[in-house]
Amino acid sequence: MDLQNRPIGVFDSGLGGLTTVKEIFKRLPNENIVYFGDTARVPYGSKSKETITQFSIENTQFLLKFNAKLIVVACNTSSSLSLNSLKAHFKVPIIGVIAPGVKKAMSVTKNNRIGVIGTRATIASKSYEKEIKKRNSVTKCLSRSCPLFVPLVEEDWIGDEVTYTVARRYLQPLMKYNIDTLILGCTHYPLLKGVIKRVVGKKVNLVDSAEEVALDAKRLLEARRLLSKNKNARHKFFVSDKPMNFKAIGERFLGRKISFIKKV
Ligand code: DGL
Repeated sequence: MDLQNRPIGVFDSGLGGLTTVKEIFKRLPNENIVYFGDTARVPYGSKSKETITQFSIENTQFLLKFNAKLIVVACNTSSSLSLNSLKAHFKVPIIGVIAPGVKKAMSVTKNNRIGVIGTRATIASKSYEKEIKKRNSVTKCLSRSCPLFVPLVEEDWIGDEVTYTVARRYLQPLMKYNIDTLILGCTHYPLLKGVIKRVVGKKVNLVDSAEEVALDAKRLLEARRLLSKNKNARHKFFVSDKPMNFKAIGERFLGRKISFIKKV
């Protein structure tokens, strides 16, 4: 197979990473994609660094069986806790969602007060704070874990009053710090953009890490002359458990049909 036609490998703890795949489809329509969702071991957001790193290594090894030219770690929790270990372990280019999200947030903030929301493990790792500090020591990062958002999205209770109540409870304390930018630091949160916007107000910029990592993937492939020209891109989805459940909810995340799905 030509170098360019090798697939992009994307993994997540489950189906949330499909928000990233959706953005990759938009920006890189010619790319073959192999996706792995670790649905047997989800959630990662409540697990330890050691466990998340071990799972992330195994997920990458699986994607490399398809000769992936690039690995995208769509999961914010894996990106926060394991990206450095993955980069040390494998030769293939690997990108995560933290740096692209931070880069965008820092380009749009006017008052240098950025909020970050994510899983407990992501927030506890301080991955976003560290990335912000690396770039600029005056920008303040205010963060908050929002663990109930993931199950609310998976239940499809997005417009429900209960979701607004939960969003107000999580986000109003963050708004007291006068943030003007909020990073959606979890795969599921792009689906809550409407709810979050209503709670934080129109003036707060929402940064979608799924969009930003897709742009980063495009830049990297362009720079390495690895963009595919294939007009019949193929997309394969693998999961470690319950493929039918993944298909039903995943098609909602992706906004299109999933035709190839297999449990491994
Ligand atoms: N994919 C995870 C993330 O982006 C959310 C779900 C989980 O906790 O595994 O952090």
